[in-house]
Amino acid sequence: MTSALSNPGRAAALPAPRATDPGAFGRVAVVMGGQSSEREVSLDSGRNVLAALRARGIDAHAVDGIPALLDALRAGHYARVFNILHGQHGGGEDGVLQGALESLHVPYTGSGVLGSALSMDKIRSKQVWIAERLPTPRFVPLRRGAGRAGVAAAADELGLPVIVKPASEGSSVGISRVFRAEDLAAAAELAARYPGDLLVEELIEGDELTVAVLGGVALPSIRIVPKGAFYDYHAKYVAEDTQYLCPGLEGEAEAAIGALALAAFQALGCSGWGRVDVMRDRQGRNFLLEVNTAPGMTSHSLVPKAAATLGIGFEELCWRVLETSFAPAAGEGAP
Ligand SMILES: Nc1ncnc2c1ncn2[C@@H]1O[C@H](COP(=O)(O)OP(=O)(O)O)[C@@H](O)[C@H]1O
Ligand SMILES: [Mg+2]
Repeated sequence: MTSALSNPGRAAALPAPRATDPGAFGRVAVVMGGQSSEREVSLDSGRNVLAALRARGIDAHAVDGIPALLDALRAGHYARVFNILHGQHGGGEDGVLQGALESLHVPYTGSGVLGSALSMDKIRSKQVWIAERLPTPRFVPLRRGAGRAGVAAAADELGLPVIVKPASEGSSVGISRVFRAEDLAAAAELAARYPGDLLVEELIEGDELTVAVLGGVALPSIRIVPKGAFYDYHAKYVAEDTQYLCPGLEGEAEAAIGALALAAFQALGCSGWGRVDVMRDRQGRNFLLEVNTAPGMTSHSLVPKAAATLGIGFEELCWRVLETSFAPAAGEGAP
């Protein structure tokens, strides 16, 4: 990793934290866990966030899942919410929680209803980017139940290799890379195990990068070099041999991917903080994959790695993410 000292220009891009007094946040609920397929990852992230906020003197408390959170908020227990739930279907990352919090007038971290909901849906994210002329891999959206025949027809249209994925999962669950026609049926079956629609996407061969966004600024990109074939669940949360290079690119290419990530984030109506996943082909062309609006904060997670490159440690990062729950300062738009 590049040290903050060797990268002074970037560090200057992040303004000073807005709050200096931990009391300015009031009593904070760190909502984690929940019922989505990403429950365990969320609990891991949430415990880390909770410990960091408390270490900074913030009056923060763990709350497991949305129903418990709403009960506590109605009882007046908390002034704001740090949302570190991951996942869809009321999992906390898809706009449902955000709508409930809006209706209770409780401030919360990260994107609002629209940005959360659009980002959770990979098909609609891509449709918005295409309308905005932002680059994303060619794809065919498929309704749930399209089955093997639908997936095979989509692969025919796109040409192999392709990647088959559920439209609304995370953590690489349900995703297959397909190089041979005979493997399409298994990929269709795997993706269909998850609720919702699916998509078949052109497989981009090259490098995988991700760009964290915090308070309207793109942090240095991270290039992910997995030991295995791709960045699957194991590489994300278990393996110790995945390599992370940060910044992932140099010079103009690094500036370009940061600008693309910010444009992609804003196009979906996102704000506060998040992470934009990108594939870069061998000609150096970037393709947007998805936006994560409540990215992981585990020991393997990427946003903390990018922040560390700027000399921002985990505690300060959590503080700054919590600040995204403040209303924008006068003259400052979202995000
Ligand atoms: N079009 C693609 N070309 C190449 N690799 C892809 C493509 N789409 C996804 N991947 C791989 O699958 C991983 C997960 O895909 P992504 O769309 O980010 O979904 P999620 O992280 O929500 O599961 C990526 O990190 C990447 O390694
Ligand atoms: Mg991803």
